[in-house]
Amino acid sequence: MPAQNTFKRTLVTSALPYANGHIHLGHIAGAYLPADIYVRYKRLRGEAVLYVCGSDEYGVPITLTALKEGVSPTEVIDRYHTANAEAFGALRVAFDIYGRTSWPLHADTTQAFFRKLDEGGYIEKQDMELWYSEQSRKFLPDRYVKGTCPKCGYDNANGDECENCGAQYAPKDLVEPRANIPGDSSRPELRPSTHWFLKLQEFSGAIKTWLDSHPEWRANVKGIAYSWVNDLRSRCITRDTDWGVPIPTSDPGAEGKRIYVWFDAPIGYVTNTRQWALDRGLGDDGWEVWWKDTTSRLIHFIGKDNVPFHAVIFPAMLIGQGDYIAADNVIGNEYLNVFNRQTGRAEKGSKSRGNMISVRWFAEKFSSDAIRYYLCANAPEARDAAFDWDEFINRYNGELCDVVGNFVHRSLTMTYKNFEGKVPAPGALDADDTALLESLPQLIDAVAESLEDFRFRQALERFIEIGRKANQYFDTKAPWVTRKTDMARTGTTLYVCCQVVRALCTTMAPFLPDGAAKLAAILGIALPAGGPDGGEDAWNAARDRLSAGHSLQTPVVLFPKLDKDYIEELAAKHAAGEAV
Ligand code: MF3
Ligand code: ZN
Repeated sequence: MPAQNTFKRTLVTSALPYANGHIHLGHIAGAYLPADIYVRYKRLRGEAVLYVCGSDEYGVPITLTALKEGVSPTEVIDRYHTANAEAFGALRVAFDIYGRTSWPLHADTTQAFFRKLDEGGYIEKQDMELWYSEQSRKFLPDRYVKGTCPKCGYDNANGDECENCGAQYAPKDLVEPRANIPGDSSRPELRPSTHWFLKLQEFSGAIKTWLDSHPEWRANVKGIAYSWVNDLRSRCITRDTDWGVPIPTSDPGAEGKRIYVWFDAPIGYVTNTRQWALDRGLGDDGWEVWWKDTTSRLIHFIGKDNVPFHAVIFPAMLIGQGDYIAADNVIGNEYLNVFNRQTGRAEKGSKSRGNMISVRWFAEKFSSDAIRYYLCANAPEARDAAFDWDEFINRYNGELCDVVGNFVHRSLTMTYKNFEGKVPAPGALDADDTALLESLPQLIDAVAESLEDFRFRQALERFIEIGRKANQYFDTKAPWVTRKTDMARTGTTLYVCCQVVRALCTTMAPFLPDGAAKLAAILGIALPAGGPDGGEDAWNAARDRLSAGHSLQTPVVLFPKLDKDYIEELAAKHAAGEAV
């Protein structure tokens, strides 16, 4: 287990999604739901946790979308920033701030990073040969130019990397280049241009030492990070574009150039922390304790394509600042693919295939708890997973509803009806009663242990396991039978059941916040949300007992079952490309 006790506060970040499209279920399963579960759990524990995210609003994909639609980039980012913030809300992903890299404050933070690196001698200028379109009168960075991959021959490769084989190359090595701008597919020519480069190789030793000090990290993240760290070179951090943070120099070479989106984006975590502190009235340097105090712990949640940036490049940028802490963990998840019922195979979610499921489409049709349950139960932690309609309904109905929901509901309704809405007084406890009651603390601890280790699937399984044990107990004790002959025995059984329900209420809260809130209201117990200041350890209260005579509110179904026909109807719409 990590030495979390030596830290006074935890700063959690989730990758900033591009404000260039609607976030989909794959995003949620990878970088947001696990982080949100972790944050909710830690807050229940009373730990001080700040959870920061926001939109990533610069870069070529956004200006390309704007060109295609004939609107301004600002219109594109405003649209998706708002839509994505709403989508996160629908799934109860509870950021403390959801910021924007287009904020002026962000230009300020980014430029300060750039200047500091420059002063430290970590930035150099290099002359390059870049593709230039005579027709559009501009340089063609990144996806503005397409061509044939010099390595594998794929004919739709980007300016400096190939989606097909993953190769990265100098733009001038692209074969058969063509402009990729609406209305311009002319053949570009090479022109000289000067750019700024971050000398990543200067950080090799420090990054390696840092990686070596974290044997507890996930193997997938370490593997990618080490493969990068052994081959670090200067990396271009500027682009020929007018959409981005201005380069903080009066150098004439900076004209028509901006800072590259992958340099500014992770700095967005810092900007958004700054803005959060300002909003809270904590002053201009209220943010610094989270990023600079060695008693703070920084954890990034990301998808695996973002690993090099969070485990090598951004850490180098932070080291270059001189006074920032290094991340204590980088949780990189694999991908959530999409199961295709026609072919019987999982395939990559893609915009062009139309097989993606956007959160805004999905969250209108299902409860946040149903979605969160399935995406966590099927999280792409150690390997890729796939969204599958049959699995969605089977797991939600068969596990959450039938095991936990059913146990809670039959326990509470029987108690409510037969004992005047109050927790019954127990008689003498028999071996079954004692065994279940005494096992509760370990069962709760087991969930916590998995959460501390970032094993979210396992944590959820262990939570369901509490429900399974409780159902076995309920079936053995058969209170619906003893009710006719032995009310005292029935009262003891339901007393025990109420204690398990109480434990389930707290342990479900990180995963299923809406169900937990409903249940807490029925039980009349507090589930404090916690926050950046910390508070009491309410997780520990999961093992508290409800006393005999404690009043309950009228029970309601926490997790309504999904209907098979409804699922089929939506699966058909998804197959027809309507879920994007
Ligand atoms: N927008 C990027 C993506 O979706 C992620 C940026 S993460 C950040 O892949 F750290 F750079 F912000
Ligand atoms: Zn290739």
